[in-house]
Amino acid sequence: MLAVTSKAVFHGLARVGLLRRLASRYGMAPGYGFARRFIAGESVDEAIETARTLGAKGFAVSLDYLGERVGTLELADAATRDYLGIIERVVASGVERNLSVKLTQLGLDVDRATALDNLRRLLETAGRHGFFVRVDMENSPYTDATLDILETLFGLGYQQQVGTVIQSCLIRSSGDVERLNTLGARVRLVKGAYREPKSVAHRTMPEVDAAFIDLAKRLLDGNPYPAIATHDPIMIDAVQTYASQRGLAADRFEFQMLFGIRRDLQAALLAEGYRVRVYVPFGKQWFPYFMRRLGERPANVAFVVKGILRDRD
Ligand code: FDA
Repeated sequence: MLAVTSKAVFHGLARVGLLRRLASRYGMAPGYGFARRFIAGESVDEAIETARTLGAKGFAVSLDYLGERVGTLELADAATRDYLGIIERVVASGVERNLSVKLTQLGLDVDRATALDNLRRLLETAGRHGFFVRVDMENSPYTDATLDILETLFGLGYQQQVGTVIQSCLIRSSGDVERLNTLGARVRLVKGAYREPKSVAHRTMPEVDAAFIDLAKRLLDGNPYPAIATHDPIMIDAVQTYASQRGLAADRFEFQMLFGIRRDLQAALLAEGYRVRVYVPFGKQWFPYFMRRLGERPANVAFVVKGILRDRD
């Protein structure tokens, strides 16, 4: 219940302009910026450096160029072109070719057909270079559009290159997992980062957790390559137990975690022989992502306050 309330508070705060300006000023300051705990940097070079360091330790990575809910087609086009440039940089750098992308960054709020076209532009170039692209799942008003666009892309022949995300907080997700398993689309399973209306979401964390375990089992049974994305040791333990009961090899699925969160657990899973992918967000548009991370764990606010006070000393 606390988690649901804090999500509401931080989603509200994310819209306060003063806070956004303060955060932009102090958050990514070189060396001590408090947002650096969760964001790899503002430039693609910093993201590639982080990917290189993680790769050297044995982690897989997915790079996320931050940005969402753009309000014009020009901005959507600019984000798409940015992504095309990032693809070239990643190829030249030699780090792993794996991206995460949000459809509202590519124009879904403005025009759905253009968002699809932009994603196709991205997949065309990414595909030539052997990238896998994960379409992140945004809040519930976008679920249908995201799944429909994914299905369209499968019809157009991109099935090896693209997958999406399912959120266990949504009541509908059971049906969506069946749909994606039947389609053969790779799924990342998460609890869900957005504040959702009661009409569409489970109301308590135990319900969200029970749904997560149920959906994870269905994905392990019926998905080509599920990604279990959580920092919750209880979820991870349930998945490990089920996978071993079903005799699933450790390379049939992967765990995923966010950059900067539960690094101890990331390392422990890797040492146990599991595949672990770290989601590496970067870019100037980091504020909404950052606020979602605070909303998940209000104790993180202490880092923000310390960062600002230190700068003022
Ligand atoms: P839970 O919130 O119960 O946390 C379990 C434990 O993890 C906590 O007790 C704490 O130790 C640690 N923890 C969790 N969040 C933390 C934080 N912010 N700071 C510090 N510690 C923290 N969501 C979405 O809606 N759409 C998406 O596309 C994605 N994509 C995505 C990719 C990847 C790789 C991950 C790991 C997560 C996402 N998410 C997401 C976010 C996801 O929905 C969820 O909000 C977070 O993963 C937090 O939930 P947990 O499963 O970790 O459990």
